[in-house]
Amino acid sequence: MREINATVLENCAIAPEIYSLTFALEQPVRVRPGQFAMVGVDGFPLRRPIAICKAEGERVTLCYRLRGEGTRRLASRYSRGEKISVLLPLGNGFSVAEKEKRVALVGGGVGIFPLISVLREYAEQKEIYAYMGFRSRGDVCLQYELQRAKELTVATDDGSSGFCGTAVQAFMENVERVRPDVVLACGPTPMLRALKSAAAGRDFPVYASLEERMGCGVGACLVCVCALSDGSRARVCKDGPVFDLGEVIL
Ligand SMILES: Cc1cc2nc3c(=O)[nH]c(=O)nc-3n(C[C@H](O)[C@H](O)[C@H](O)COP(=O)(O)OP(=O)(O)OC[C@H]3O[C@@H](n4cnc5c(N)ncnc54)[C@H](O)[C@@H]3O)c2cc1C
Ligand code: FES
Repeated sequence: MREINATVLENCAIAPEIYSLTFALEQPVRVRPGQFAMVGVDGFPLRRPIAICKAEGERVTLCYRLRGEGTRRLASRYSRGEKISVLLPLGNGFSVAEKEKRVALVGGGVGIFPLISVLREYAEQKEIYAYMGFRSRGDVCLQYELQRAKELTVATDDGSSGFCGTAVQAFMENVERVRPDVVLACGPTPMLRALKSAAAGRDFPVYASLEERMGCGVGACLVCVCALSDGSRARVCKDGPVFDLGEVIL
């Protein structure tokens, strides 16, 4: 992990309230899928954690939803040529074992962004079945990236595109046919809870990237601590953000 003064190449809207930020580092960086960056935003003492969606040599792309003041400032303040301070790569990321050939991805909302990095890393080696949930048709973005999957199911809450319902429901409708060796997930806590309960007792593990609020991002402040089912606690930034979903208390 390093603190880097990167140069913004592009920072533009790709869907309502969703931005894609690409910056150039001084040298190439090796990033594992599911790792994240802590992004410094001018005027805010705390950096914001954002998953690394793509890393190609020295070019890194993050996608983010406008949520509060920090992400709004990120969208309005940084344009091509500006310097931006980032810490990266952070966290453990997702890994897929050699023997795990059939991989299901279940993502909702901004949780689709770290799963894109999984698709970019593993689409050629594995059979990937992706279930991606959005609120509505107009929110569907980055389909050209999602289509790297062997099979992509877009789910919308209002049924305006693809499957009508959540990504978890879409996955569970197909689980017997797909028979995944492993499931990788990211999304809001209610989505992860639904997935945990739907997958309980099945013969595949589920690993999920958690989206806790963060302070330092590097294991020092304990803002991001989550409880594990064995009674211990873990730092989402340093011990995660990816955990065995069966082992975290949501
Ligand atoms: C490991 C990790 C990866 C992430 N990856 C992405 C990503 O790829 N794209 C993306 O859009 N967002 C991602 N997030 C969430 C992102 O960090 C927050 O949306 C962002 O920090 C909000 O900053 P803000 O200043 O705009 O909002 P704030 O003013 O700080 O907060 C606005 C609202 O959002 C809530 N909020 C803030 N941070 C979080 C959080 N981490 N989880 C849940 N609710 C939160 C607050 O409680 C508040 O209600 C990720 C978070 C983590 C921990
Ligand atoms: S954010 Fe500081 S310990 Fe995790």
